[in-house]
This record gives sequence, C-alpha cells and structure tokens, in this order.
Amino acid sequence: MPTKNVQPKIDSVCGMDLSEYADVPEFAHNGNTFYFCGTHCEERFQKDPDRFQGEPLIKLNKVWKVFKLGGAETQVLRGLDMHIWEGDFVAIIGPSGSGKSTTLNMVGLLDRFTSGNIFLRSNDISLLNDDARTELRSKTFGFVFQQYNLIPWLTAIENTTLPLIFSGKKVDKEAIATSFEKMGLTERMTHRPFELSGGEQQRTALLRALANDPEIILGDEPTGNLDSATGGKILEMLIGLNKIHKKTLVIVTHDEDIAAQADQVIAFKDGHLTLDHQVRKRFIKSDEDTSQHKHA
Ligand SMILES: Nc1ncnc2c1ncn2[C@@H]1O[C@H](COP(=O)(O)OP(=O)(O)OP(=O)(O)O)[C@@H](O)[C@H]1O
Ligand SMILES: [Mg+2]
Repeated sequence: MPTKNVQPKIDSVCGMDLSEYADVPEFAHNGNTFYFCGTHCEERFQKDPDRFQGEPLIKLNKVWKVFKLGGAETQVLRGLDMHIWEGDFVAIIGPSGSGKSTTLNMVGLLDRFTSGNIFLRSNDISLLNDDARTELRSKTFGFVFQQYNLIPWLTAIENTTLPLIFSGKKVDKEAIATSFEKMGLTERMTHRPFELSGGEQQRTALLRALANDPEIILGDEPTGNLDSATGGKILEMLIGLNKIHKKTLVIVTHDEDIAAQADQVIAFKDGHLTLDHQVRKRFIKSDEDTSQHKHA
C-alpha cells in the first residue's frame, strides 16, 4: 500500500524539523496546526503569528557539511534546518565542535556546504556562481570574528575602507572620520593593528564590518578575546545596531549572558538544533527548581 504523504512538522519560528518527535507543543491558528520545539518558540509565534507565516530572512533546509581529511569523513552539519527572521538578534550557542562557526560561514557565503539549501530572502544561494556569491556577501553581510582578522600591514582606516574599495564604492573620508570619532578611535586611525588594544582592534573590525552598510551582521564569538568590560561595550554596540539600526544580528557565543539578551537562542548539538533551545527560560526554570524542588 502506498504510504500517505505526511506533512513534516516544522517549527514555524526556528525552523526545526519535529517530525520525529512525539508530544511537541501544538497551536491551532486560522484552521492550521503549528508545531513548536518548546515554549519559547511557541510564545514568540503566539505574540505575532503573521510574522512567522511569511518567509524567514535566512532559511536552512537539510544542510549537510562533510569535511573529508585523508580517508576520514567528519559530518559536521547533519541535515540542519534553521530559520532566522529579519530584525532578530539571534544567539547561537552549543558545545565546542558542534558546528556553530561552520554554520555561520555557510550562511555568510564564506564556505560551501555539501548538500541541502540555504535561502536568503527566498533566493537559493547554492545556485550562485563564485562572482555572484562574492557580490552578495559583500553587499549583505558584515563579519566580526573573535580574532578580529585585521590586515596587519594596513592602518585602522585602511582596514575599514577595504570593503568599499573592493566593491568599487567611493571612500567618503569625512564620513569615515566621523565613524571613527563615534567609536572613540580618532587618535587611532593611522595605527596598525599591533599598535591597538584588543578592544580597539575589535571596534576597528566593527567599523570594517559596517563599511558597506550590511543588513545582516554575523559575529563569531566577537567578545571572546576581550575582558568583560570591553566585551560588554562591543556587545552594546552590536545590540544597538540591531535595536536602533534594525540590522539582523547573529552571534555565535559561549557567553550565557549574551544569549540571555537575544530575541531567539538557537542551541546546537552535533550539527542539529536541540529541542526547546531558549536558555533564558531554562535559567528561570532551573532557579525555581533549585529553590522549590531541590530536595523533593
Ligand atoms: N576545514 C576543516 N576541515 C576538517 N574539519 C573541520 C574543518 N573545519 C571545522 N572542522 C571540524 O568541524 C567540527 C565543527 O567545527 P566548528 O568550528 O563549526 O565548531 P564550533 O561549534 O564553532 O566550535 P567552537 O565552539 O570550538 O568554536 C569540528 O569537529 C572541527 O574539527
Ligand atoms: Mg567556533
């Protein structure tokens, strides 16, 4: 007998495929049933159902990434499904080696995946050639890495104008000087990276990331190398770009305090999303658990 074509159960908010899980939360809306990986996604949906019935800004569909080294294969992403919504601040958390940086690199068109699809505003990026990928990357994304990745022989100002030169845009010296001033870096514009502190290097890297006015900012542990006060300032700037300038912000982090400030937390394990991945909720619950049920 032919098997019935069963609709997959996809979490409308985070994109996780829940078909294999029993007893996931459900919500009936306008005659349809929606499924959720946990309470946080369900609550987000219920607050604004229309938002989560449109197309996500970034959509990963069954993305696999397999590294081949010698004769050995490492399956880093194993059919990853994930949604990122326009204007969200998303924190990606998870153990070391779970595929967080790999995912960010795939989304930001810095590396290619083995199979599956990634859609950016419904456009399938796996169909793009190298030139189209480069153009889309420099137009769409600003990157901030843990290691800053500034070019050592260029000054701070030269590092930040590089994306403009690559994309053939006019370098507006006055605007750049103003942006350095806003970052408190006026005195450092002509310094090379080795003459800058970690925080100054990361602020320079942030200016470089913003040079092309990208709509999406991708940060891979952007505060990981900084002391907590300096890291806090960088984080404040990043969150300001999200809240004030409406940039979509995706940060990979090990810092639970950063994750707790995000609109959406996506926790990874072994190249998958985990069920109910909202840490903030989990903290609140565990606080209650410790006070009320510790010796139950
Ligand atoms: N170029 C590569 N060749 C082979 N294996 C790789 C390569 N890049 C990453 N890996 C492997 O893929 C896995 C996931 O790496 P990834 O850098 O995405 O992890 P992560 O979640 O960012 O970890 P961390 O928190 O330590 O930064 C790791 O086991 C890593 O060894
Ligand atoms: Mg990483």
